[in-house]
Amino acid sequence: MSNDLMRFSVAMPEDLLVRFDHLVARRGLAKNRSEVIRDLVREALVEDECATPGRIVMGTLTIVYNHHANDLQEKLHHIQHAYLELIVSSMHVHIDESNCLEVIILKGETGLVQDVANLIIGTKGVKTGRLVMTTTGSFI
Ligand code: NI
Repeated sequence: MSNDLMRFSVAMPEDLLVRFDHLVARRGLAKNRSEVIRDLVREALVEDECATPGRIVMGTLTIVYNHHANDLQEKLHHIQHAYLELIVSSMHVHIDESNCLEVIILKGETGLVQDVANLIIGTKGVKTGRLVMTTTGSFI
């Protein structure tokens, strides 16, 4: 495959095109329709790869919890030690007197990464949790 740019035309309803042009404008002067469409295609391909069983992905899991909650920190540590082959790194931030934010970086097969993230998010006392997955992808 070549990296040469190929041209193709796209038909869409006028309303949708107007809204798309607003999106292009919000992305800044360095972006034009073609570049924003390329970005959106890459995002869709990354999302598709991350949803494909067997693919190796990177995950960023952000959780917020109350560190006074019973045994919670110990449970979270236990999970991370149990799956240390998937846990690349973590960062802990003390938000206020009670709340902590933790960012956990995971790498591994997409299903395993999601399972471990769900285990952490599902631990009693975790207030919020969100996993964002990505991949380098051969198309980027
Ligand atoms: Ni803390």
